[in-house]
Amino acid sequence: MRFLLVKPAQKHLKGKIVLLGDKSIANRSIIISAISPGKTTIENFPTSKDCLYTIKALKKLGIKIIQNSTSRQYKNARTITVFGKGLYDGLKKPKGPIFVGDSGTTLRLTLGVLAGQNFAVTLTGGKSLSQRPMLRVTLPLRLMGAKINSKLKTQNSKLEEYPPITIRGGNLKPITYRMPVASAQVKSAILFAGLYTKGTTRVIEPVKTRDHTERMLRLFKAEIKVKQNKIVIKGNKELASPGRIFIPGDISSASFFIVLATILPGSRILIKNVNLNPGRIGIIKVLKRMGANIQLTADSCQLSAEPVGNILVKSSNLKGTIVKKEEIPSMIDELPILMVAACYTRGKTIFDGVGELRVKETDRIRSMSCNLRKMGAQIRVLKTAKSEKVVIEGGRDLRGTAVKSFGDHRTAISMVIAALRAQGNTRIDDISCINKSFPNFLSLLKNSIH
Ligand code: S3P
Repeated sequence: MRFLLVKPAQKHLKGKIVLLGDKSIANRSIIISAISPGKTTIENFPTSKDCLYTIKALKKLGIKIIQNSTSRQYKNARTITVFGKGLYDGLKKPKGPIFVGDSGTTLRLTLGVLAGQNFAVTLTGGKSLSQRPMLRVTLPLRLMGAKINSKLKTQNSKLEEYPPITIRGGNLKPITYRMPVASAQVKSAILFAGLYTKGTTRVIEPVKTRDHTERMLRLFKAEIKVKQNKIVIKGNKELASPGRIFIPGDISSASFFIVLATILPGSRILIKNVNLNPGRIGIIKVLKRMGANIQLTADSCQLSAEPVGNILVKSSNLKGTIVKKEEIPSMIDELPILMVAACYTRGKTIFDGVGELRVKETDRIRSMSCNLRKMGAQIRVLKTAKSEKVVIEGGRDLRGTAVKSFGDHRTAISMVIAALRAQGNTRIDDISCINKSFPNFLSLLKNSIH
């Protein structure tokens, strides 16, 4: 347990920051490089705990991965090389189970690759991951032919599956799968499994989610086509590594600085080389709608299949808005920090269709509403049979108090930001979870407040 005392910011957020590589893209870069023949060097790889678990998992599956250097330009980032072995006979059965910490992305994406292997592997997770639902990914992989056992429990009168998960793959057949839940992790697992079939796999998303997997597979010469919400991938064909790739800065990490610059008067911050994937920038669209002064300058990056750019944010007065349920997947990880922004906004903000927040690293509807309410925010959670809404009446000053991270990195960082603009000191019980996605958050923050 590592507590943090946050005093209200006396100064402004100023200057220029460069962020570690995006967690989602980094996780995919390891997996895709491992199943492609030959060497892939990955630049700006983050030291986030989740990404280190993905490296460990692939190493346990027999892939050689080395760290070449620590990046001078991107502090806390590394350049690493993955010695990929190709699709077939590439991975080997590990000695014993593979522990993936609390990284849902590592677990769900790796399951997709393991579905193509002719041996059994058990994946285990930490306390938080062991309580997250897995049926959404085991169901389609079973339809493709994988044999999977997991921990079964009844949740809200429905049978659900949880880690540990044992999977034995091989002999997969292609499927056409209409996903009931919008999830990039599930989509990615099915696409990876699709590579191991002798046919064409089709995935249809209810709402478009981040497409990092599709972009990176294309960069590695997979036969993949996307038409609106439908992704079509052909299996039984080796990938081809481009040799070197670059991971652009993490937009989810950027969002904490974007919101702080917006709500802290007199601030102006430039965030360099950030991933601007359309499936991830929902927060920018919503903040702009609320009146935020944010300018994007697109840049190109030949070593990445992703749009990259700089973000300039100046403090502004925000007004409430309605966030529609179709918009949620493009800002799913940014909802906690958007809830903080909504507290410092004139008028009402409604977040519709946020039920998926219940099954993240913690129940983020509960963690954020408990904490913000304790600081004096007016926040309501409305539940209907079909959807869940969070309604925040902004315009009240928050006051510092004792709050909890609930062991969740995004709740912890969001509460640091809320506290910097509050009146009086705030004590956050445990911020060790921040390392999951943003190990250098506190040092970047200290250096940016002048
Ligand atoms: C992720 C997808 C999202 C997101 C998670 C990372 C990914 O999860 O919340 O932090 O890398 O694909 P879901 O796929 O469960 O929505």
